Amino acid sequence: MTAIKSLTLKNFRLYESLNASFSPLINIILGNNAQGKTSLLEAIHALALTKSHKTASDRELISHHQPFSTVKGTFANENKETVLEMILSKEGKKVRHNQIEYKRLSDYVGIVNIVMFAPEDLNLIKGGPSERRRFMDMEIGQLNRHYVYHLNQYKRLLKERNEQLKTMQRKRIKSDPLLDILSEQLVHYSVRIMRDRAGFIETLAQKVASIYQVLSNEPTAIEIHYNPSSKGDMLKALKNKQAYDLMTGSTSIGPHRDDCGFYYGDIPVMKVASQGQIRTLALSLKLAVVDMIKEHKKNAPIVLLDDVFSELDASRQKNLLNKFDKASQIFITSTSLDTMHLESLKDYKVFEVTAGKIEGVKTHGSTL
Ligand SMILES: Nc1ncnc2c1ncn2[C@@H]1O[C@H](COP(=O)(O)OP(=O)(O)OP(=O)(O)O)[C@@H](O)[C@H]1O
Ligand SMILES: [Mg+2]
Repeated sequence: MTAIKSLTLKNFRLYESLNASFSPLINIILGNNAQGKTSLLEAIHALALTKSHKTASDRELISHHQPFSTVKGTFANENKETVLEMILSKEGKKVRHNQIEYKRLSDYVGIVNIVMFAPEDLNLIKGGPSERRRFMDMEIGQLNRHYVYHLNQYKRLLKERNEQLKTMQRKRIKSDPLLDILSEQLVHYSVRIMRDRAGFIETLAQKVASIYQVLSNEPTAIEIHYNPSSKGDMLKALKNKQAYDLMTGSTSIGPHRDDCGFYYGDIPVMKVASQGQIRTLALSLKLAVVDMIKEHKKNAPIVLLDDVFSELDASRQKNLLNKFDKASQIFITSTSLDTMHLESLKDYKVFEVTAGKIEGVKTHGSTL
């Protein structure tokens, strides 16, 4: 099991500077609204996965009016220590693993695995396709570093192809060998990305079906389908769309337009599900990812529970913690201890955060 032992923040969101040492078991981040609970979890997420769970913009993570931000964490896995460091600035993002800078993010993502449960998870079901692509990319990325590399190459080529389409539009050219080369290269990476997404969704679907049934006590089985934007020969499909793409100056098919969907049989979940069912499905998705990481990496991820725990009643809180079975280090945010049922917990550490500072730390139990 990998656990974060300590975290140092400089100019990250509302944290001007922070030093914290965590329990290898359960950490409770307590505080009123807007005091920095989510930001603390977001920092751990971003440090391990190089991205926030809620924004695509790294600039948002840097404190207002500051030129850069650093996040540094020391992790322990059995007796081995690992130090990760991320520096964000206007020039971009740098990551270091045990003081060595990694030029390729794909070699860095997945050294430490994280699964975050957050209110935004509901958007995986309620929101648009980009939310689901983000989810697929984040989770497949931490399972498979080749995926991150393929995706980054794809994004670069897509940008180039779109620029080429615009250039051709301006010059009123209908065909160009450079466009053909870019299309071929784009297909090369698309095939790999789509293959990995299909495989991920297949395993995810199996796990979610059984987790959802247990959590909901419903006999109905949830299905998840991967819906790629094109099937069959993609190079041919790109050719067929070329006139249209030249008109719009953008690429109309490819992994950047993929989606996946949730169904009860043939019926899309969103058409019939209650709020509670949507919440249960979102929870099932993340629990399935925890399982996949455990199986694939032979190591449990760090679990971050942002605002999803204190909403549950006592027995559901207990069931959720039992799911992680002491195999994972857990972070839980809450505005009050009153809504948390901690009776059955032996060891945990409570951090009180106020305005981007840790004002109080209390340890409960013996093994900390
Ligand atoms: N880049 C930034 N620079 C400075 N402050 C920021 C930045 N980004 C966000 N904040 C501030 O951080 C605060 C939000 O912190 P956070 O979301 O961590 O709170 P929280 O404790 O999780 O609150 P809640 O209980 O409402 O979820 C807000 O007041 C916001 O204005
Ligand atoms: Mg919050």
